[in-house]
Amino acid sequence: MASKSLSPTEALAQPLTLPCGLVLPNRLVKCPMQETLAAAPLFDPPIDKFRNLYGQWAQANYGLIITGQVQIDIRFLSITGDVVCHPDSLSTPHLEKWKEWAQIAQSGGTPCIVQLAHPGRMSPVGAGNRPADMPPLCPSSVPVKLSDAWLEKMAIQSLLGTPKAMDLSEIDHAVEDWKRGARVSAAAGFKGVQLHGAHGFLLSQFLSPHTNRRTDEYGGSPEGRMKLLKRLVTEIREEHPAPFCLSVKLNSGDYMAKGGLSQDEALEQVRWLVSCGMVDFVEISGGNAEQKKSGLHNSFVEKSLSKAPKIKESTRIREAYFTEFAERVQQIEDKKCPIQLSGGFRSRTGMADAILSGACDLIGLGRTAVMEPDIPKRLLLNTELNDEEALALPHIVRGQWFSNMIPVKVVGSGLPIQFFYLNMRRLGNGLKSDPDKSIPGLVVSAIVDTVRSGFVGLVEKVMDTLGSFSKVQKIE
Ligand SMILES: Cc1cc2nc3c(=O)[nH]c(=O)nc-3n(C[C@H](O)[C@H](O)[C@H](O)COP(=O)(O)O)c2cc1C
Repeated sequence: MASKSLSPTEALAQPLTLPCGLVLPNRLVKCPMQETLAAAPLFDPPIDKFRNLYGQWAQANYGLIITGQVQIDIRFLSITGDVVCHPDSLSTPHLEKWKEWAQIAQSGGTPCIVQLAHPGRMSPVGAGNRPADMPPLCPSSVPVKLSDAWLEKMAIQSLLGTPKAMDLSEIDHAVEDWKRGARVSAAAGFKGVQLHGAHGFLLSQFLSPHTNRRTDEYGGSPEGRMKLLKRLVTEIREEHPAPFCLSVKLNSGDYMAKGGLSQDEALEQVRWLVSCGMVDFVEISGGNAEQKKSGLHNSFVEKSLSKAPKIKESTRIREAYFTEFAERVQQIEDKKCPIQLSGGFRSRTGMADAILSGACDLIGLGRTAVMEPDIPKRLLLNTELNDEEALALPHIVRGQWFSNMIPVKVVGSGLPIQFFYLNMRRLGNGLKSDPDKSIPGLVVSAIVDTVRSGFVGLVEKVMDTLGSFSKVQKIE
């Protein structure tokens, strides 16, 4: 635990050495956020765009950068534009792109690790290379349900379908894909990997009794639900000992009304991770796509602070959503690794308080890192700015009325997060984030982009046809 006599800036500026020996220059972590910038058919790292995007994060003085989720199976993406680690990623010219990405992301001296993921049943048809008649995978065949409305059910059915319960060979296949992800990340020069075990993706589907109703060794009990995660941690660590960094992002609970992952079971899952001696840090988050009442979704509309709160010993500043759970984790007796807490942080004082009170060791910054990519250097670690001024922009997304008007929740409730995807794409295209963009504006931009790319695609097709025609002419 950090000393309480430190100032807020000093608390955040403290370096941290992870159990694997990797030194993080300070406590601010750029959270994993899928960039939606990679292109079909192979979804390799889009280097020109990453030069703009990761180049900014690299120069911003974070203590650690975690990439957006990289999908381990090209058939199952969580959204079009996810980077994919595919069977050829270890060979030329694909690995070169990975190496360049690692070099750009770490060019400012901050280490970077790759988040590896599989969306499981949250994989929309058309996002990856899976044929339209192939169902997404899940530990058990539990379809996604947002409400009982027939329109909603129809939309979900056509977008996600009913997932297929994975058989043992499909689980083995996914494990090999995850291991390839770690191999590619190491060969590229990244400092480690993080397994995405949160937010209702495949690993978290295995961990939750709502989606894991198996009766074999991969389910049936809290121990069984942990088996896949334990297997991945053990096998990846065996192949990549220290100084390779191995992290896991986990939910503090599903926050579902009934049948989901309880906080007590989540605590047992974290207990194993933090005490097994194979994991370098655990990132704590919460919620899933079926539960829109989590902190992230509320904060799109919530009233916001206009100046940073003061640190007082008697009243802890609890701006992070999952602080209470993180405090329970910190009390685990044989804990061997630090905890990153993500979700809701905006003020320097709030972040410092979370560290000084011992709630966590690392501060995850998600939406703030999109809207103000340079925030560690410009504001949070800048001793020339006083604590009251050291406050990130609110996470409010304008024009929420538009999402509320859309009768299909799966579309409407997904719109605010599109605001952050759009802003990440702006950064990737060399523009600045635009905090004033509203949801209706976002929808108009999406329509214009689709029409424009349709037009460009058409021109490209015509040029291709003319090109091949002229080649044929020459050969003849
Ligand atoms: C646009 C966007 C993309 C995200 N993508 C990922 C992801 O790929 N992997 C992940 O673990 N979390 C993802 N998250 C969640 C963030 O890592 C973080 O946990 C969450 O935004 C809460 O932190 P914040 O309040 O600082 O935004 C994403 C969040 C946003 C806004």
